[in-house]
Amino acid sequence: MFPYHRPRRLRRSAAIRDLVAENALSTHDLIFPMFVLEGENRTEDITSMPGIKRYSIDRLEDEVNECILLGITRFALFPVVSESKKSLMAEEAYNPEGLAQTAISRLKSRFGDSIVLIADVALDPFTTHGQDGVIDAAGYVINDTTMEVLVKQALSQAQAGVDIVAPSDMMDGRVGAIREELEANGFSNTCIMAYSAKYASNYYGPFRDAVGSAGNLKGADKKTYQMNSANSDEAIHEIGLDIEEGADMVMVKPGMPYLDIVLRCKEEFRVPTFAYQVSGEYAMHKAAFANGWLSEDKVILESLLSFKRAGADGILTYFAKDAAKLLKC
Ligand code: PBG
Repeated sequence: MFPYHRPRRLRRSAAIRDLVAENALSTHDLIFPMFVLEGENRTEDITSMPGIKRYSIDRLEDEVNECILLGITRFALFPVVSESKKSLMAEEAYNPEGLAQTAISRLKSRFGDSIVLIADVALDPFTTHGQDGVIDAAGYVINDTTMEVLVKQALSQAQAGVDIVAPSDMMDGRVGAIREELEANGFSNTCIMAYSAKYASNYYGPFRDAVGSAGNLKGADKKTYQMNSANSDEAIHEIGLDIEEGADMVMVKPGMPYLDIVLRCKEEFRVPTFAYQVSGEYAMHKAAFANGWLSEDKVILESLLSFKRAGADGILTYFAKDAAKLLKC
């Protein structure tokens, strides 16, 4: 008697395993989220995200250059503005000379189409209360009023030359409204990557430290607009709406705890689908690495490959540089 099927045959050597590998990670899959500071010649560490920094625009340019040498060419920008620029109506979000807009135009004029820049459309870096939109007296985020500000923000980013605007605010109808405004102003080739299935997750904590919205939020949550983690049909509904409204690409966020959503999304819609391995996922990995509980290099690559297996076309990850270096050797 012998086993008729021996799946282990295909695992005997690295060469054979590679021959039958179904997925592979490449630097083309990597999108690096970066935090932008005001001023010049400044960098700051982020305590809860060891290894990740905030950069003033001049230093950001150097950092982008270094990334390009590693093969990373896609970047998502997140501005960190001083408290004095924050307000209830988030006017700074659409300042043509604002931090995000300036960073976009500086990077695009230096690097042109050798990079792809993604700008976040949401008001949390610019509101005094840290919510993603304009609030009423009860603290409820008002959908349609917020949308008007988001539309201005997206247009200002397009005018600055961004390749992709990425609404991460979860207001109803905002993708359609942004698409219309972009078309009306001659930006028919500016893409929309919609954070379509964005959950009210507790994994965003370190990011909120990084952009300085955590203190302003004072422990409040975003559950009246971001999705309930109990749901997955609702994600399909949200993604469908964004595609109908004109999203070119969609995103699922967070990443690893929501890979079921990535898989369902890709199977259902077959559109370019991205996933965000968020700040909390980065932080927990880094904590385990620092303690010697997990083997850093191998776990980074395994965690990113899981996104490919689920069907993601790209991954926003704070491990982008580490992964690119590992893929090079
Ligand atoms: C802002 C925004 C958030 C993230 C990306 N865009 C935070 C939030 O919704 O509170 C989180 C990214 C991360 O945790 O890495 N709307």
